[in-house]
Amino acid sequence: SHRINMDPLVGAIDQGTSSTRFLVFNSRTAALLSHHQVEIKQLFPKEGWVEEDPKEILQSVYECIERACEKLTSVNIDVSNIKAVGVTNQRETTVVWDKLTGEPLYNAIVWLDLRTQSTVEHLIENTSGRDKNHLRHKTGLPLSTYFSAVKLRWLLDNVEAVQQAVASRRAMFGTIDSWLIWCLTGGKSDGIHCTDVTNASRTMLFNIHTMAWDPELCKYGSWTRFYFHFYFIMLKYDSFYKAGVLSGIPISGCLGDQSAALVGQMCFQDGSVKNTYGTGCFLLRNTGTKPVMSNNGLLTTVAYKMGRDKPAYYALEGSVAIAGAVVRWLQDNLGIISSSDELESLARSVGTSYGCYFVPAFSGLYAPYWEPSARGIICGLTQFTNKRHLSFAALEAVCFQTREILDAMNQDSGIPLTQLQVDGGMTNNRLLMQLQADILCIPVVKPYMPETTALGAAMAAGAAEGVRVWSLEPEDLSAVMSEKFDPQIKLEESEFRYARWKKAVKRSMNWET
Ligand code: G3P
Repeated sequence: SHRINMDPLVGAIDQGTSSTRFLVFNSRTAALLSHHQVEIKQLFPKEGWVEEDPKEILQSVYECIERACEKLTSVNIDVSNIKAVGVTNQRETTVVWDKLTGEPLYNAIVWLDLRTQSTVEHLIENTSGRDKNHLRHKTGLPLSTYFSAVKLRWLLDNVEAVQQAVASRRAMFGTIDSWLIWCLTGGKSDGIHCTDVTNASRTMLFNIHTMAWDPELCKYGSWTRFYFHFYFIMLKYDSFYKAGVLSGIPISGCLGDQSAALVGQMCFQDGSVKNTYGTGCFLLRNTGTKPVMSNNGLLTTVAYKMGRDKPAYYALEGSVAIAGAVVRWLQDNLGIISSSDELESLARSVGTSYGCYFVPAFSGLYAPYWEPSARGIICGLTQFTNKRHLSFAALEAVCFQTREILDAMNQDSGIPLTQLQVDGGMTNNRLLMQLQADILCIPVVKPYMPETTALGAAMAAGAAEGVRVWSLEPEDLSAVMSEKFDPQIKLEESEFRYARWKKAVKRSMNWET
């Protein structure tokens, strides 16, 4: 058979909250040559708890790699053209495993999980002045159920297998990137236990100024009766020997998924912004090489660091816990839709929520409130309200939450954004995109290349191996924006609806206290 002489290819493992994907890009054109996707089961064993099976996650990675490589081979492209692989992942989600057996010691506790609410409340109570920003000067983060350290603390306090493994010095802790890379590089034989600075900055153990694990943070909540041996590296020399088809190919880049999307959207300039609609919704603004602290409830986080000798770039982040997750909830929990397309057509058929407002505070409220005790509400119902209005209200909720983040971002920076670059699965919903433009009162712009998260991971991995992925300059970007949504409603109407939303948010607060 004829093998095509190829440009170097770069692969990306994208392990998100709802699904895993493996994608293969042509490095020169960024063309997506092959991909495969597998859904991940989410477990809700108790109210507020969210878990996933680390072995299922790992299996899904193997499956995606194998299927995507089969697709390459079937079009006569040799897998050996893949020169580097990047990893990008759902952040904060916490795994503890046994270094000798390679077995997870508990399910992964997903970032959305609320079981640590009382721990967090207790920590806040013990600060002077009940200050949820007690650790912010070092971590950039408020005390919240969102971050890994509190999840680790729960595992240490409640899971006997974890306690035993810690006592016998066999316990390994990591976010999803660490778990995957350890397994892919050999696991219990000689797997590399590592993470990268973007994932590390979400653990609440990492000092974003010194770019190191912080001894005081590690002691603080007594969450680390652990020994850390982490490296923040681009893993140049490690290979996938357990993964079969990719054996010998380096895993040379790693970025948390929101950082990867920022990179994939080419947001390299100070002030550039992207918003990604996944399970949650995350708006990040590049603030350059200095961490900027928010006065309006945003996080300060490490955006990327492209190599050992390169500077770290930081971002302000507005995190919304529930975006795509609300679609899954309407489908799985209420059963009023059978697909996300159906949600769009139901909502479109009425074109209004008819005064119904839906605050999906299923995991409390994240930015800008950081209120773990908020709970979801649907209000403004009348006899007239039906599932079409509720569908519309669910889409609007995603847009209102983004508006709150953007307002906070504009206040922090003092320079209002004039258009919003978006990406992620939900951006296929054209009604959502139009509503977003209407509610923000600025244009919303989708990139030509929608797979920005995976592309960002591929760019990082390629860079480490001397393969430049997509040699486009940020200035050329406007030429490749595929679709722009302009606001179509009057400012007053937008403000009216937003004011109602704010009223609904107030009612969702302090439900549990
Ligand atoms: O912080 C959580 C985030 O990384 C998850 O992203 O795309 O799975 O909603 P996503």
